[in-house]
Amino acid sequence: MLEVTDLHAYYGKSHILQGVNMNIQEGEIVALLGRNGVGRSTTCKAIMGDVPPVGSVKFKGQEIAGKKPFEVANIGLGYVPENRDIFPGMTTRQNLILGLKPGQKDGSGRWSMENMFDLFSNLKERADVEASVLSGGEQQMLTMCRTLMGDPDFIMIDEPTEGLSPQMTQRVADLLQEIAKRKIATLLVEQKLAIAMDIADRVYVMGHGQVVFEGTPEDLRNRDDVRKEWLEV
Ligand SMILES: Nc1ncnc2c1ncn2[C@@H]1O[C@H](COP(=O)(O)OP(=O)(O)OP(=O)(O)O)[C@@H](O)[C@H]1O
Ligand SMILES: [Mg+2]
Repeated sequence: MLEVTDLHAYYGKSHILQGVNMNIQEGEIVALLGRNGVGRSTTCKAIMGDVPPVGSVKFKGQEIAGKKPFEVANIGLGYVPENRDIFPGMTTRQNLILGLKPGQKDGSGRWSMENMFDLFSNLKERADVEASVLSGGEQQMLTMCRTLMGDPDFIMIDEPTEGLSPQMTQRVADLLQEIAKRKIATLLVEQKLAIAMDIADRVYVMGHGQVVFEGTPEDLRNRDDVRKEWLEV
């Protein structure tokens, strides 16, 4: 589904990604772990085309490095960035509709607005109020749901539980499970190790702009050395 080979990325003269290799198969949930500032978000941005990628990014067999973010989205790659960029002046419902692809009708894909409202009564209750009044957790839900409305085959979600209450964190974890159930391949950037280990089929650990460990959650559990060197603070 996604194959990243020798991916590099730069901000000005800073060489951030230094040869990232990863692959994600259909229906697989993969967690991308690592300490703050190691380049996890930059990896997502380079895959999406938000920062210029140097190297190869293949999605469904097609080279996407060099394509524009909207082109990448239109071929089925969904992205939920770290900052919850809702459209604050629009209602919850309008925000969800904006997630549809050009020409796509609500209900024609794997997810419908009705689905979202069934899953999250919070969003239903606030369907017709301005999104700016939603809580941080509700806004996180909304950005995830909006991306899902576009019916991606693969979704990258960057730190969805950051700053959320335990209750909202659980809701987000439930949605991640629901995404997994529908066999949508996922790259999950997550600081909370427990959630990542719970739902991921495989994990990548990043350090210094490269992948330094790859394995199953079980493998990582057995590697105190890797956790000490690259994850614990
Ligand atoms: N727009 C930018 N301009 C210059 N440097 C940047 C920019 N964005 C990120 N960086 C730098 O690139 C490095 C990697 O950042 P990135 O956002 O990918 O980290 P991260 O692993 O997602 O960590 P976190 O989300 O915890 O900050 C950091 O050193 C950061 O300071
Ligand atoms: Mg980040």
